[in-house]
Amino acid sequence: MKKLKIGLIGAGGIARGCHIPGYLSVPDDCEITWVCDVAPSAVDQAAALVPGARTTTNYQDILNDPEVDAVSVTTPNKAHKQPTIDALHAGKHVLCEKPLAMNAAEAKEMCRAARDSGKILQVALQMRFGAPGRFMRQYIDAGHMGDIYYARAQALRRRGVPHWGVFIDKEQQGGGPLIDIGVHILDLTLFLMGYPKPVAASGRTWDYLGKNPDIVNPWGDYDRSKFTVEDMAVGFIRFENGAAVTLESSFMSNIKEDWLRTDLFGTKAGALVKAGGDDPIEIYTEQDKMLFDVTPRNVPHVASSHTAEVQAFVKAVQTGAPSPVPGEQGLILNAIFDSLYKSSETGREEPVDVEF
Ligand SMILES: NC(=O)c1ccc[n+]([C@@H]2O[C@H](COP(=O)([O-])OP(=O)(O)OC[C@H]3O[C@@H](n4cnc5c(N)ncnc54)[C@H](O)[C@@H]3O)[C@@H](O)[C@H]2O)c1
Repeated sequence: MKKLKIGLIGAGGIARGCHIPGYLSVPDDCEITWVCDVAPSAVDQAAALVPGARTTTNYQDILNDPEVDAVSVTTPNKAHKQPTIDALHAGKHVLCEKPLAMNAAEAKEMCRAARDSGKILQVALQMRFGAPGRFMRQYIDAGHMGDIYYARAQALRRRGVPHWGVFIDKEQQGGGPLIDIGVHILDLTLFLMGYPKPVAASGRTWDYLGKNPDIVNPWGDYDRSKFTVEDMAVGFIRFENGAAVTLESSFMSNIKEDWLRTDLFGTKAGALVKAGGDDPIEIYTEQDKMLFDVTPRNVPHVASSHTAEVQAFVKAVQTGAPSPVPGEQGLILNAIFDSLYKSSETGREEPVDVEF
């Protein structure tokens, strides 16, 4: 198997904390040969983790290196589209951080570039690589849940505004908790439902708490006047196959505890799937007219879903397998978010357009 040469475009928190360890975990299969960031200090910090890698503040240097097989795009959301499209056109495979793009229009351009280039575009949505996601996918594939016709997906924080980077800046991020953490739980939910095609969505967003300087943010203080995203969003999404999903996400809300979980409603069984922790799955079923609550005990151990995601990308590039998380699914998520944001403004259900 070819040992891949990898470039990193964006050398901030997720690159250093997740992508670099992911690539370093399979040293026989790949090596990081380039590190790029527009901020020289970020380049230096990342380069210290990958001795020998070349460094640059201009990602075109990476794309001009014919030896580079693939890149990670780990920049803020606003800077996902152009490096991804340029990399695909330069013949590089791309692992792009979530959300795929600021909006569906950008995501469509990126999907077209992947289709035209024939290269892999993988969206860095790691929850499906974690233990609960893997276990449930197998359980559902075995037919135990029947058809899943409804799900309630929640990515709710009581007080958890990311105060670093650009997470409170709509112009740089495209949105707040919906696009930043709602994306994870909605991806897991749709992955477990077989990624049905969305047709319409209605939603509502608020920013009452996030803008209020009197409300504490234990993660760290931030300038309330710069908070231009929503602090909470809810939505109802309809799918072509008749299924529906409700989605709730917040950076701040007055709830008892944080949740990153989805409740699946199937014709044979229901399930509560949490992101992690002890006993992350509960299954609700019936046998011989008796009701059972079942706790699976052999949910496999996955040390890091981020590392598993990077390893899946490397393997797909090496073997020519399809993208483990196709750009089209990132587009579906962006298109749903567009419709939810629009619906919050119009007060009406909005169509979801995923054609590209
Ligand atoms: N998968 C996850 O769980 C997860 C977790 C955190 C962040 N993320 C995603 O990762 C991305 C980055 O987030 P982060 O927390 O690492 O942010 P960050 O601010 O720590 O790092 C982003 C880096 O990109 C650099 N950058 C900006 N524009 C650039 C460009 N044009 N070329 C090269 N470098 C550029 C910045 O200087 C910065 O160092 C976001 O899209 C975010 O949604 C994903």
